Amino acid sequence: MKGRKRTAVLISGRGSNMRALIEAARSPDYPAEIALVLSNRAEAAGLAFAKEHGIATAVIDHKIYAGRGEFEKSMQVLLDLHKIEIICLAGFMRVLTQGFVQHWQGRLINIHPSLLPAYRGLDTHARALAEGAKIHGCSVHFVVPALDEGPIIAQAAVAVLDSDTPETLAARVLAQEHVIYPGALAALAGGLLTVIGNRVACERTAALPPALKVPDFPK
Ligand code: GAR
Repeated sequence: MKGRKRTAVLISGRGSNMRALIEAARSPDYPAEIALVLSNRAEAAGLAFAKEHGIATAVIDHKIYAGRGEFEKSMQVLLDLHKIEIICLAGFMRVLTQGFVQHWQGRLINIHPSLLPAYRGLDTHARALAEGAKIHGCSVHFVVPALDEGPIIAQAAVAVLDSDTPETLAARVLAQEHVIYPGALAALAGGLLTVIGNRVACERTAALPPALKVPDFPK
């Protein structure tokens, strides 16, 4: 496919969502290419997988900067150098400034391990269990300045089992994250999304590879 959108994946650790995005983007029909993996932690396990797949990787340690703005300036230099058009946050555990988020508005997406707007923030699985939720899940959303808010592109739900621990629930949710994130990125990179207020409409066209499990958006 021509004109694949140059995409950066920002990680802080394991990188399993990054891996799902890289694997999806290996298909020549996929409308995004993963051009850069950027981590704020040198020990992020996901970096090795990206390197093995010939993807440019970089580490920018946020701790050496005086503030968030300075850290982001360094990130922006790399993003520009690699001509990045879309950013996917994938377990990137840094809060971004309003300026950075606004610069990337509409081109910056995140995956969060809950059915937003429920359980913003951390420890989502333990909190869902503690509150007795029967349904839990994950969301891909456009990033806005407010944490874990922004128009939702895709969600997947899982049933909460009586026997669940935060770990078993997290594992079932993570499997769904790996399905919806590549689908959401394909829809964004393919130009299929329209944001109206807080709602995201997705055009279903033949441009989406049939094998791709894109969430079923209402027509
Ligand atoms: C994922 O579960 C992702 O949803 C979550 O971190 C994990 C990263 O795993 N993100 C957040 O909590 C962001 N608020 P991964 O590194 O294996 O993709």
